[in-house]
Amino acid sequence: MFRWMPKTLTPSDCGPRLVGTWSFALAAIESAWSTLLGSNSSDVDRVAGASDSRSCLLDAIEAACQHADLDPGVDSVGLGGLPDSSGRMSLDGAIMESPARFAGVAALRRHLHPVSVARLVMERTEHTLLCGADADEFADRHASVARELLSDDARSVYEQWEASRREGSAGPIDQGKDGSLLGLRPVDPGLGADSAGKLFRPNTGREGAAPAGHDTIGVLGRDLAGNLAAGCSTSGLPFKVPGRVGDSPIAGHGLFVQPEVGSATATGTGELISGICASFVAVETLRRGGTLLDAVLEVMLRVDELGPLRPHHQVGVIVMDALGNVASGAYRPGFLIATRDEGGGRVSGPDLVHRPEDDELPESARDGLAKNDGHETKEAR
Ligand code: GLY
Repeated sequence: MFRWMPKTLTPSDCGPRLVGTWSFALAAIESAWSTLLGSNSSDVDRVAGASDSRSCLLDAIEAACQHADLDPGVDSVGLGGLPDSSGRMSLDGAIMESPARFAGVAALRRHLHPVSVARLVMERTEHTLLCGADADEFADRHASVARELLSDDARSVYEQWEASRREGSAGPIDQGKDGSLLGLRPVDPGLGADSAGKLFRPNTGREGAAPAGHDTIGVLGRDLAGNLAAGCSTSGLPFKVPGRVGDSPIAGHGLFVQPEVGSATATGTGELISGICASFVAVETLRRGGTLLDAVLEVMLRVDELGPLRPHHQVGVIVMDALGNVASGAYRPGFLIATRDEGGGRVSGPDLVHRPEDDELPESARDGLAKNDGHETKEAR
C-alpha cells in the first residue's frame, strides 16, 4: 500500500538548484548558493585555476558540505557528529560529477571535511576511494589541515553512552549482533525546534534512550549550464564498530550522478542503502525512462525486499533529473528536504512516504514536521 503526497512534476528547466537531505541542509545550501552562481568562489578552499561553471558547481557542493561539517548543532555530520564505540570520530564522504569523475574517502579521523579530501582524490589521483589512516595522510600531503574532530559535547554524550552501556541501562534501543547499540530512527524536528539539526535527540520521544542513529548531508546540485554534481558527508553510525563504513563514500550507494540523465542521494541506514545500491537504482530508473516518482518508488520497493525492517531503520532519497526537477521519498515518516533555487530557500516534506503507518513519532516531532513542510527562508526573487 503506497500513500502519495501528490505533486505535479512536469519536466521543465528549473535553472540552477541545490537540494539537500534534512532541514539542517537549508543553511548549508543557502551558504553555497552564491558559490553556485559563481559570485563567491573564493570562500572555498579551491583547487587552483578552476573557475568555470562546472568548478563553481563542485565548489558549491563542497561549500555546502563544509558548512554542515562545521555546524556543531548537526549531530550526524562533522563537528557535531558522534564517535564510534571506542570514542573516536570517523568521517566518510564523497563527491561525484559522473561515473568517470568520482571519489570518496572513508574513516577519516583527523580531517573535518571528507568531501574536500574526496575532491582532492578525484582531481589529483586516478583513484576513487581512500580509507583510514592513509586517507588522512593523503590529506596531510595535500595541505588539508588536520584537527581534533571530537567535540566536547560529543565526548560528553559518548561518556554517558559508555556509562549506560557498562550499567546495561542504555535504554530501549536495538542491539546489534555484536551487542552494540544500533540507534534510533533519525527524525527531523525541523527548523525552529529547540532540537533543530538534531536527528537523534529527545525529539524521538524515547525517554532514557542514548542519542544514537546515523545520517548524512547529501547535496545534489545543478548549475547554470545544466551540469549535475553531488556530495555526501557524514559521521556515520554513532557508537559504530570502529572501522564501520556506510553508504556515503561509495558511488551508487550514498550518491550517484549520470550526466544528461540525473542524480540521486540517499540518507538513513547505510547498510540498507548499500545493500540495494539505492542512488544507482534511482538514477538507473530515470535512465530507463521512469519518472522521478518512479525512481523514488523503485528505491522503496527494493527496501521492502530486504525483509522486515527494525525500528531504527530509515531510508530517504532525493532524485533530480537533468533539468533540475526533483522528487524525494522516505521509507518512514520523519524525513525533510531543503531546496535552494531562484525561487528562494525552503524546507519541505518528501513527495512520498512509503510506510506512513510506521509512525511512532511523538506529537512534538509531528508538529515540527508539519510546521516545516513549506518553511521558506527567502522570498522568490
Ligand atoms: N547514511 C550514513 C551512514 O549510514 O553512514
